[in-house]
Amino acid sequence: MIISCANEKGGTGKTSTTAMLAWELAEMNYKTLVIDCDPQANLTDLMIKTKSQENTDITIDPSLFALLIHERNLSEGIIQIKKNLDIIPAAADMNLFSRWVDKQNISEKDKVSFLSNAVKPLKDKYDFIFLDVSPTMSLTNDNVFMACDWLIIMLQTQQRALLGANSFIDYLQTNLIDEFDAHVDILGILPVLTKGQSIIDNAILDNATNDFGKENIFESYIMAMERVKRYDMTGITESDRSIWDKTTHKAYRNVAIEMIERINHNE
Ligand SMILES: Nc1ncnc2c1ncn2[C@@H]1O[C@H](COP(=O)(O)OP(=O)(O)O)[C@@H](O)[C@H]1O
Ligand SMILES: [Mg+2]
Repeated sequence: MIISCANEKGGTGKTSTTAMLAWELAEMNYKTLVIDCDPQANLTDLMIKTKSQENTDITIDPSLFALLIHERNLSEGIIQIKKNLDIIPAAADMNLFSRWVDKQNISEKDKVSFLSNAVKPLKDKYDFIFLDVSPTMSLTNDNVFMACDWLIIMLQTQQRALLGANSFIDYLQTNLIDEFDAHVDILGILPVLTKGQSIIDNAILDNATNDFGKENIFESYIMAMERVKRYDMTGITESDRSIWDKTTHKAYRNVAIEMIERINHNE
């Protein structure tokens, strides 16, 4: 099962959500892999920080880009973060992927399917594979969405973001599903709420319900939580003594559980 948290805007919590969902699934004993396809490598940073709490030294070699262009097996790039949780890290060279793949002497369909073909051999080895990307309409992102079975659309409760979700879905339909037969489907729209602004939150949620249908919106929401921001600096922590860790993990655990239910229900 290959999944990506998507939105055409940045800063909607895609990377944090990807990391936290992967963490919760690993805790639930699902074998989980995250692949960082974003040249900014935010997910790689977060995961390496999470791991280096154990004081392990990590260098990113080979990068995802290097593996892809030399047609090496992606499993050569796997780093274990903790039990059941692996990453294939990205480095800044991922910036070059769009142009590189575009220059290959292959069909348009093969250009958008390059990553998908490379990831395929890993599918059997994991229960869940998450791909993380930056919010650009690029050949890199097309490659990511072509590789996915499911997308979780992040919906920040700001009007702009809702428009973002709409145009993103249009883009998927016209450019990937209609044109290249992408089998990707939307698992649901996941609201990321701004705490303390419930009037706005509710108005946007009502809009989203009208636009997409109640059944397409996750029942479990993600609230703004300071602890998630802190994880950017400390890596993900899960201390029995910290109520903040507990609350944060519980929120994402609920989303992970609903995600599995939605997958089972849709298959
Ligand atoms: N639930 C949350 N509560 C508070 N801050 C969050 C939450 N999710 C993400 N953030 C913060 O918001 C910023 C953008 O999140 P990120 O996951 O990097 O977004 P994206 O990948 O969509 O650009 C980061 O600083 C992150 O720590
Ligand atoms: Mg990101």
